[in-house]
Amino acid sequence: MKKLSLLLVLVILNACSTSKRPHTTPLGVIGRQAMVVSAHPLASGVGSRILKQGGNAWDAAIAVQFALAVVYPVAGNIGGGGFAVFREEDGSVGSLDFREKAPLAAHRNMYLDEQGEVLGRKSLEGHLAAGVPGSVDGMVTLYGKYGSLPWSTLLQPSIDLAANGFTLTEEGATALNRSRDLFIQVNTFDVGMVKQEPWQSGEELIQPELSKTLIRIRDQGRDGFYAGETASLIIDEMKRGQGIISFEDLQKYHSTWRDPLIGYYRGNRIVSMPPPSSGGVALLQLLGGIESYPVARYGHNQWRNMHLMTEIEKRVYADRATYLGDPDFYKVPVEMLLDTQYLKDRMSAINLRKSTPATAIKEGNVEVVESVETTHFSIVDPKGNAVAITTTLNSYFGCKVMIKGAGFLLNNEMDDFSVKSGVPNQFGLIGAKANEIAPEKRMLSSMTPTIVDDQDGLVIVVGTPGGSTIITSVFQAILNVIDHGMGMQEAVDAKRFHHQWLPDRILVEDDVLSEKVEKKLRRLGHDFESRGNIGRVDAILVLPNGHLEGGADKRGDDTAIGF
Ligand code: DON
Repeated sequence: MKKLSLLLVLVILNACSTSKRPHTTPLGVIGRQAMVVSAHPLASGVGSRILKQGGNAWDAAIAVQFALAVVYPVAGNIGGGGFAVFREEDGSVGSLDFREKAPLAAHRNMYLDEQGEVLGRKSLEGHLAAGVPGSVDGMVTLYGKYGSLPWSTLLQPSIDLAANGFTLTEEGATALNRSRDLFIQVNTFDVGMVKQEPWQSGEELIQPELSKTLIRIRDQGRDGFYAGETASLIIDEMKRGQGIISFEDLQKYHSTWRDPLIGYYRGNRIVSMPPPSSGGVALLQLLGGIESYPVARYGHNQWRNMHLMTEIEKRVYADRATYLGDPDFYKVPVEMLLDTQYLKDRMSAINLRKSTPATAIKEGNVEVVESVETTHFSIVDPKGNAVAITTTLNSYFGCKVMIKGAGFLLNNEMDDFSVKSGVPNQFGLIGAKANEIAPEKRMLSSMTPTIVDDQDGLVIVVGTPGGSTIITSVFQAILNVIDHGMGMQEAVDAKRFHHQWLPDRILVEDDVLSEKVEKKLRRLGHDFESRGNIGRVDAILVLPNGHLEGGADKRGDDTAIGF
C-alpha cells in the first residue's frame, strides 16, 4: 500500500513536472515585444520590419511567405502550399489549410504503368508531379480575415528583392548547384537559376519575371495568380510539359479554414494542424504516449528516453500509414486515434527492455531516397498574437519546373499521396486507401505548425521542415522545453533522432549517441542510420519574464530577429 501511494505521488509529480524553464545555458535572440524566426535572414528582416510598421503577426507572416518565395526558392514558394496555425492574443486559436490539391484530371493510378508498377519518378520530377498550388490563395485568405496593413505593403519587399536581386548565401548557392542537372532535364526552356559556372556565395540572384508575377499578385490579389496572365502562363507551361493543371483547377482552388487540433500535455495546451496533415494527430499521439513516463528523470537523449520514444513513434507512424488522409475525402478516425484508452492500449505492448520489430507492428518494406526541403517560420507580434506557418514545394525546388515567363517553381506534392498502396514515397512513408489519389483531394502531409500555451498564456510557437521527421522533431522540441527545461535555442540546437515505423531503424544525427547509449540501445534490438541533420526547427519561447526567445536552427541560415 505504501509502495502504491509513493508511486501515485511520483506519477502526480511527474504529470505536473512542467519545468518552468530554468536557464542554465545561453539563450537565443531575445525580443521584448516581438520575434520573427525564419529560414533566411532577409525574410526574417522583412517580417520584423512589417511588425515595426505596426503590422500584426498575420501581416508579417504573409510578407515572410512571399519573401521566402524569392530568397529561399528551395522551399519558399508561391507554387506550393502549406498550413497556418495561429493564436490570438486572447487565446482563441485557428488554422488555415492551403495545401495543394490533386488536379481534376488526376486519378488513382496515374503514376502506374499497365502492369500496375510505379512509373519511375513521375510523381517527383516534372510537370505531372505538381499539385494545384495553394500558397497565394492561403495568403489572400489569411489577409482577408486578419490583415491590417495595406496588402501592397506586404508584397512590396519581396517584389523589390526579386527585381533588385539579393546576395546568395553559401547554402543558397549550394542548393542551386545541386539541382542544376534536374533543372536542365525537366524544363522546357533555359531557366535563370541555371548558369554556366556554379553559383558562388556572395553572387546576386535577380528574378525579374518573379517580380512581375508578385506585382500582379500585389495589384490583383488572388486573380494575380489564379486568373489572367499568371494563370495563362501556368497553363502554357502545362501544355509544353504535358502537365494536367487546368484553368478550372486554378479557378476552383480555395484554401480551407479548419478547427485546429487541441490536446494537452503536462498542463499545457497543444494546438496543432489537423488532417490533411498527419502532424497534429501524430504529435498528440506521441505526447499522449509518453506523458505517463518520467521523461525528465530519464535524461535528454539517454537510452531509456530514446528507446521509449522510438517504440511510441513506430506505433504512431503505423497508424499514420493506415488511417490518415484528406478528411474531405476519407473519414479520418481522429477521435479514436487520440482516445486516451486507445493510446494506453496501443502503447501497453511497449517492452522497456526490448525493441519490437517494425514488422511485428505492421508489415511493409521501405527505403528512403532523396534529401528534401520545406520551410517553417514562427512569429509573435507586440500584442502577443502568434502565427506558425509551415510551407513547402515538397522536394528541393519542388518538381524543378519553372513557369516560363512567371519566374516561379512548381511543387511536387503529388508524391505525398500514396501512389500505390504499400509503396513508399520519397520519405519512406507508406499509405493506403485513406491517402490514395483522387481529383481535388489533398495529399497527406506531415507538416506540424504548432502552438503551445498554458493558463498564463502563450508558451511556444514551433515547427520545422524535414518530411516524415517533422513530427518527431516538433515532439523533441516540445519535450526539450517542457520536460528537460531547455531554453528555445538550446532545444533547437539539441541533437535529434527519429523513427517512423518503416524502415525499421533509428535515424540519428551525427553525435547524438554516446558510445554507452548506442551499445545499450543495440542490445535492446535497435538499429541505426545516421543522417547529418534532421529538421530545421524555427521556434519562439515566451520566457517567465514575458520576453521572447527565438530559437533559430543553426543547421541552416535560419535567423531570429526580435525587438
Ligand atoms: O507535406 C509534407 O509532409 C511534405 N511534403 C513535407 C516536405 C518536407 O518537409 C521536405 N523537407 N525537408
